Amino acid sequence: MYNPFQKILSSVSSFAGDGSGEAVGIDIGTSAIKVVELKKKAGKVILETYGAISLGPYAGGEVGQVTNLPTEKIAEALKEVLKQSGVVTSSAALAIPMQSSLIFPIELPAQIKDSEIPSIIPIEARKYIPVPISEVSLDYFLLPEREPSFEDMNSSEAIPQKTSKKNVLVVATQNDAVSRYRSILSQRNLTFSFFEIEIFSSVRANFEHNLSLVMLMDFGASRTKLALVEFGMVKSYHAIERGGADITDSISRSLSIPFSEAEKMKKEFGLFGNPAEKSLADTIKVHLDYIFSEANNVVLAYERKNKKTVSKVILSGGGAGMKGLKETAAANFRSEVELGHPFSKAGAPAFLEKVLSAMGPEFAVSIGLALRKLQ
Ligand SMILES: Nc1ncnc2c1ncn2[C@@H]1O[C@H](COP(=O)(O)OP(=O)(O)OP(=O)(O)O)[C@@H](O)[C@H]1O
Ligand SMILES: [Mg+2]
Repeated sequence: MYNPFQKILSSVSSFAGDGSGEAVGIDIGTSAIKVVELKKKAGKVILETYGAISLGPYAGGEVGQVTNLPTEKIAEALKEVLKQSGVVTSSAALAIPMQSSLIFPIELPAQIKDSEIPSIIPIEARKYIPVPISEVSLDYFLLPEREPSFEDMNSSEAIPQKTSKKNVLVVATQNDAVSRYRSILSQRNLTFSFFEIEIFSSVRANFEHNLSLVMLMDFGASRTKLALVEFGMVKSYHAIERGGADITDSISRSLSIPFSEAEKMKKEFGLFGNPAEKSLADTIKVHLDYIFSEANNVVLAYERKNKKTVSKVILSGGGAGMKGLKETAAANFRSEVELGHPFSKAGAPAFLEKVLSAMGPEFAVSIGLALRKLQ
């Protein structure tokens, strides 16, 4: 039977892990799978292992290419990356891509009892969801009346409600996407712990105690995801249909070189430019101009509506490693810009620090998932 309130999503439920001291976060991106295993020992989070595998070759293509693979192929790649990285935890937390879900706030009259909310949400949600309600799984949580502190966000205690209106945040996720991920896990004999929309995981991994308005940008291969975050809470999020693979495609076409070579050149020189190929930086910049101008629209609209300004921008995702991106972003947003360093949330041997700092942005989603399970 269709159950609209399967508790599949997280950010949203108060679910706080299964109490065990280990967790594996799995981020199935369009170009690569990233896994991170964390352990909690004596109250401290420790990095056990991590790994990534490109999906391009599983589709007969190249590293860095965007793929749309059947579940069997993804399960095969997942098996390989779990083996290579030596992950032992069998209960996994997975990220759901932003485009498979929709999140929106609903206001309900204060006199509605909490026990009545589950039956009211599907009726109200119809107004917001462009597909039949039977094709999505709904989840929700009550938003606090006052602005919560970061500590509130991380505490499991209820935040006191005032009595005017009940604000509910509803998350609708396509059933297709959920069953796809369940099938991938079961093919690998993994049990599923929870699903979470990718940007929520990324925020958890990249944020310290930021109270003011901060924007997170996740530069993926297929899309650039944005989240506007206040008090550690995602207030608004957007996806820009442009990513790292589009940049590589353009380089490949404009210089008439194979995708694989273009990908290498992009990573080696980035916006600093290749002395032998003067047009490289310009080709990259065309795409970044588009991404930043879309991001500016989102920021401006939010700032106007809420009478607040973005105080900082955090860069995440594999594409955040682009040389010169931080400087370009700082010039565009005229605010502080920093590269996320999610591995700093887990203890690791000192000699790994440099590597982990450089690789961190790529693993942010998988780290955030594992962190949540240990919370
Ligand atoms: N040093 C670098 N310089 C420039 N781009 C880079 C660098 N390292 C990785 N990238 C780019 O980052 C992208 C991959 O990032 P990521 O692993 O976050 O993507 P994904 O999660 O698979 O994609 P999506 O989130 O869109 O599904 C690729 O386009 C890759 O070329
Ligand atoms: Mg991604």
